[in-house]
Amino acid sequence: NTPDPTAPSVPAVSSVLVDDIGSLATNDPALGPGQLGDVSDAALVVESGRVAWCGPRSQAPAADVRVDAAGRCLIPGFVDSHSHIVFAGDRSREFGDRMSGRPYEAGGIRTTVAATRAASDTDLLGTATRLLREARSQGTTTLEAKSGYGLSVADEERCLRAAARLTEETTFLGAHVVPPEYDGDPDAYVDLVTGPMLDACAPHARWIDVFCERGAFGEDRARRVLRAGRGRGLAPRVHGNQLGPGPGVRLAVEEGAASVDHCTHLTGADVAALADAASGGGPGTVATLLPGVDFSTRQPYPDARALLDAGVRVALATDCNPGSSFTSSMALCIALAVREAGMSPEEALRAATAGGAQALRRDDVGHLAVGARADMVLLEAPNPVYLAYRPGVPQVAAVWKDGELVAG
Ligand code: NIG
Ligand code: FE
Repeated sequence: NTPDPTAPSVPAVSSVLVDDIGSLATNDPALGPGQLGDVSDAALVVESGRVAWCGPRSQAPAADVRVDAAGRCLIPGFVDSHSHIVFAGDRSREFGDRMSGRPYEAGGIRTTVAATRAASDTDLLGTATRLLREARSQGTTTLEAKSGYGLSVADEERCLRAAARLTEETTFLGAHVVPPEYDGDPDAYVDLVTGPMLDACAPHARWIDVFCERGAFGEDRARRVLRAGRGRGLAPRVHGNQLGPGPGVRLAVEEGAASVDHCTHLTGADVAALADAASGGGPGTVATLLPGVDFSTRQPYPDARALLDAGVRVALATDCNPGSSFTSSMALCIALAVREAGMSPEEALRAATAGGAQALRRDDVGHLAVGARADMVLLEAPNPVYLAYRPGVPQVAAVWKDGELVAG
């Protein structure tokens, strides 16, 4: 084909300069003062989907295209390391009842299991896609997604297939609760999870998770699940210490889990175990706090201050699911963590970005140092304190994933 000489020539964009950034949070303390590695009057250059340069505006190199941040704040995209977006059905009535005084129980999960089993693949993928878009438009650029509402071989597999269409961070949670058909025989259900269900699901998952809690799985069964998953190449993570003190945190640390999630009810020994794991030189086990759950189940909030002061690595995530936390807003989680869990605004932003990346054992996201994925959020705000300072107010002006504008 001969090129049409009348067509305007469109040069391939190879670099983009985001200029006049009032406040840039890089999460790389080597780049600026404070734990967010803040640079003021900053600029950032993206090339081939990665951060190629960042620093003071006055030193910015030339680029093909200039985006004007107009003095606003640029932060790394949120890394939401815990969600259950593959499901069907509605539990708003259960939430209403809870707010009228009924306690939260793990048993509500079965309501969603029944609806999920009855839903088509198209409907499951449709709901999950809508929630992913909803999260993305609010600044989430990495989202983990679990199975756990199928609880049969075929239903867990199709939930994971749907999740894998949307994210690389997929988690097999066949051990969410014991489904009704295994009532009274939890060991037979664990046999299924660690046998045929794992065989069907392992090819679609990166992680294995278990709900280690009263009403779900005790320590021994939970350990069996994690070890079976590891035997199939899935790395462990744990739901623990949500509804009361229990073995979840200790189990997670002993099994080398990347993260233990909820951590609402911790003993001093739990905090010490997490701190020991963090100081051991390895990746340790991140404590992932899910304040949307504590909000939506009227639980006390976790003591993030005690964890941070002990040297524990902390992440924040939404746990987006129809039962215990039907929010996809990382900004809400930040505001709750600041107001209710004792975190500073800087600690909360770090936990929602770099912390989530650590919980997923990723070093390419959660920060904006040179070489990181250009996953970035421009806030309609002069600095990141505004995320907690203006709770409930939409403040996301633009979102880039791998350097591509995906919202705004
Ligand atoms: O992470 N804790 C267990 N599972 C979910 C809740 C699921 C539900 O209530 O449907 C959670 O909170
Ligand atoms: Fe969860």
